[in-house]
Amino acid sequence: MKAQRNWQLDILQLVLFVLVCAPLATGLPLHEWLSLLLVGPLVLHLLWHWNWVVGVFTRSSRKLPSPTQFSRAWNLLLFILMVVASVTGVLISQAALPFLGIHTAQDPFWKLLHQVSANLTLAVVGVHLAVHWRWIVNRLRGPARKVM
Ligand code: HEM
Ligand code: HEM
Repeated sequence: MKAQRNWQLDILQLVLFVLVCAPLATGLPLHEWLSLLLVGPLVLHLLWHWNWVVGVFTRSSRKLPSPTQFSRAWNLLLFILMVVASVTGVLISQAALPFLGIHTAQDPFWKLLHQVSANLTLAVVGVHLAVHWRWIVNRLRGPARKVM
């Protein structure tokens, strides 16, 4: 049940994330609204793995196997990048925030930071998916071979 729930959420996040990474294809207004929408599934994704998060951040590194230590550092990096990309996106918003009546300054520094953090996020999500590749393949193979 939990695995099925996680799987559906992972697919939703991935589809939204791929769309968000292609603002030229979607157009800027859709890019902004989809990015804001993505925050919901991402928060849920973190909450549904909260036991893991608490487990790895309350234990000393020496007590964790190397792959878990790597995932801990990598997920932390991913979290920081996502926050930076989302916050800088809001700061340079040209459609969503003005639509809500909030004026934004078109600061070149925030634009640059948005571009850099967004491109790094793409690479870091790629490795995050690679780390979970066996889990993904098992889900794709169907119910008989599912693992938790
Ligand atoms: C495009 C976005 C993302 C996708 C498609 C994705 C996908 C996945 C997959 C397939 C898993 C393993 C299966 C599962 O239990 O769900 C997983 C685990 C996990 N993800 Fe994500 N994820 C994304 C973004 C994030 C972000 C931004 C964070 C923030 C830190 C994060 C944190 C975690 C954690 C803590 C776990 C469990 C621990 C682990 O084994 O790494 N994920 N994710
Ligand atoms: C995880 C979240 C996000 C990702 C991965 C992301 C990704 C991107 C990418 C790849 C670009 C093109 C950058 C380039 O020209 O090289 C871009 C541009 C842009 N994004 Fe986002 N974005 C995110 C969130 C947001 C949010 C929340 C907003 C506003 C509500 C936003 C507003 C913009 C704007 C206005 C541009 C055009 C910047 C310019 O004129 O150079 N983004 N974003």
